[in-house]
Amino acid sequence: MNKFRIPITLLALCLTLSFSTVFAQKTSVQNIESRVETLLAKMTLDEKIGQLNQVPGDISTGTDVKKDDLLSQIRTGKIGSLLSHTNFQNKIIMQRVAVSEARLGIPLVFGFDVIHGYKTIFPIPLAQAASWDMGLIERIERIAAEEASADGQNWTFSPMVDVSRDPRWGRVMEGAGEDPYLGSRVAEARVRGFQGDDLAAKNTVAACTKHFAGYGFTEAGRDYNTVDMSDQRLHEIVLPPFQAAADAGSATFMNAFNTLNGVPASMNKNLITNILRGEWGWKGMVVSDWNSFGETIVHGAAEDDIDASVKCLSAGSDMDMAGGTFQRGLKKALESGRVTQAQIDEAVRRVLRFKFSLGLFDDPFRYLNQKRHDETLEKPEYRQVAREAAAKSMVLLKNDGGLLPLTEGSRFKKIAIIGPYADSKGDKDYMSFWTLGLGMRAYDSTKVVRPAQALKPALEKLGFEVTVTEICLDATCTEKDYSTAINAAREADIVIACVGERGLDCGESRCVASLELPRKQDLILSIVGRLSKPTVMVLFNSRPLVFEWANQNIPAILVAWQPGFETGNALADVLTGKVNPSGKLPVTFPRSLGQVPIYYNQLNTGRPQQQQGQMWTSGYLDSPTSPAYPFGFGLSYTKYSYSDLKISKSQYKMGETVEVSVTVTNVGDQAGEEIVQCYTRDLAADIARPVKELKGFEKIKLAAGESRVVTFRLSEKDLSYWNNELKWKADPGKFKVFVGGNSRDVKEGEFELVR
Ligand code: GLC
Repeated sequence: MNKFRIPITLLALCLTLSFSTVFAQKTSVQNIESRVETLLAKMTLDEKIGQLNQVPGDISTGTDVKKDDLLSQIRTGKIGSLLSHTNFQNKIIMQRVAVSEARLGIPLVFGFDVIHGYKTIFPIPLAQAASWDMGLIERIERIAAEEASADGQNWTFSPMVDVSRDPRWGRVMEGAGEDPYLGSRVAEARVRGFQGDDLAAKNTVAACTKHFAGYGFTEAGRDYNTVDMSDQRLHEIVLPPFQAAADAGSATFMNAFNTLNGVPASMNKNLITNILRGEWGWKGMVVSDWNSFGETIVHGAAEDDIDASVKCLSAGSDMDMAGGTFQRGLKKALESGRVTQAQIDEAVRRVLRFKFSLGLFDDPFRYLNQKRHDETLEKPEYRQVAREAAAKSMVLLKNDGGLLPLTEGSRFKKIAIIGPYADSKGDKDYMSFWTLGLGMRAYDSTKVVRPAQALKPALEKLGFEVTVTEICLDATCTEKDYSTAINAAREADIVIACVGERGLDCGESRCVASLELPRKQDLILSIVGRLSKPTVMVLFNSRPLVFEWANQNIPAILVAWQPGFETGNALADVLTGKVNPSGKLPVTFPRSLGQVPIYYNQLNTGRPQQQQGQMWTSGYLDSPTSPAYPFGFGLSYTKYSYSDLKISKSQYKMGETVEVSVTVTNVGDQAGEEIVQCYTRDLAADIARPVKELKGFEKIKLAAGESRVVTFRLSEKDLSYWNNELKWKADPGKFKVFVGGNSRDVKEGEFELVR
């Protein structure tokens, strides 16, 4: 027998298998469409409107499904989705009613805010962005999806991709900071982590990219406030992370609460139909934010439930979260001829398609498996990732005299750990409001490894003598209450002052009018400062804060953010040098609130100020224009030098790729990770362009003494901007390129783009 002839039977089997696989995939898409149409044709108007109705669950209302009329609403087809249900058994009960007792047996889809972990809590999203480590961020969301899906959640209201430049806003903690390029890369990583490559898999959840759009530019940093901006800023700064998430396959989007240029986002046809569905070709389902359809009435942009229903549905929004507006107004809107049956059917199709894509029609209990639930939640190995993430998120802002790390054989012996966040057991401290998977009421502070809990033994193991003295912060506290801590500091050789914000000082509707350290903590620092002891300030924060006195007087400052479950272990790893800090700021830290909004990718103005006090230029009489710490900034226990910036040519034709390379050398005495950043400046466009724009970054590991050539490749798209003809275009002309370890200290080069 010809040894090369594959046995016919084997060949036939391979062909059959491959054909059936392709056929199966193809039919699965066609299958969904035909199954949607078949089901839609059977549905009554009430059942259709019911699918557009999402109702809150036990987190918000303490709903006990057996008592509340939720089950009757589900049984009569008035509810298509629920959100914020933590009770696993209740979800099983509700799903069983939906598929076994409702007329058409359409399964429910359960949504939940999985913002920085579900049962295992990771650093807040802004902290994760400070790691600039997209692989890590994807791993975090993969774990969050494993836990959430095992607990019956099919859909997370995440990633939040709102770019923001205003630290007063409470929700700056939920995003990836001030830059659209970094924000886009983080958005993609989050969608990949949540959705994996199969939405119907039992361990993935659907993403919901939010809040569409412009929410981060809320006036005065006040939540839910007005947003007004140019088309330019919308397309260049706000939309890119949303488009990145859409291109990464985000199954759903969520409306924002705010008006954008006068039009509430939930009824903003330009955003939803023209841009999201039209220009970007996105096919998913849009859910409102919490009662944001109903709030169009409060905004004064809709008269009543009928009007609000007409405007939101016509704009392209599909599902009504927690508002009941569609329930009360959509049928009447149809009867009055202000919406068509086809419009309603299109929204229902998107909801049904979404449920089919999750596999809920094939197996409504796919995510409600008791065994998987019991063996998946809070696996120990998840905490290892939480610890790694927290350490990689921390940003070292100052380390004068190499005060850190604290190692064996140090000249110091006695260490006093003091401060309100040295060992706090406060509700959600070191975390945030968005840890709902732990339950609103059942908060268990023992799950968090607190700073001193891990730091004290870790330092004692290195031979230090360690005291821990918390400081109370409530209004009754006076300077004499600080005396215990101050005495401990006086007795010590070095002080670690743990200050900052409570976990609940940030997040939705938690905005501030001052960025100073809250509750008189700067007083504590100044008292400690008067002791003239080497001091390390560890900041637990959810936003950029202002601490000018500390910047001038405290030699070592570490931004720890809100690090999550592994706070203490990660802090000990960094302060003892087990982990060399590598985090870089995803947001600018201002010197004062008066500088806000302050961000790195600003326009040059016609009169840029070179130094404070220079008259007739764009600056202040009482402050420099530079920030306390710029975007992209972060120190290491080692040092990196940048040399040999090379641009492959001095001139490039449109469409050619610009190659930029630089040599990075670890000139210190220990290994570390450096985030190499590449920025450009378009010197002569048809409109003014920012002085810098992040176009690439690469995180590299370097041993002591090691050098690496890092190369960035810039496409024509990278050099384009949203121009006066309302489209992305690159102009011929000169460009500058900047490469460095932050947005300020850079090597600079130049090239020209020619037609
Ligand atoms: C909230 C938030 C949104 C969240 C939703 C459900 O008001 O704005 O981000 O996903 O309601 O909790």
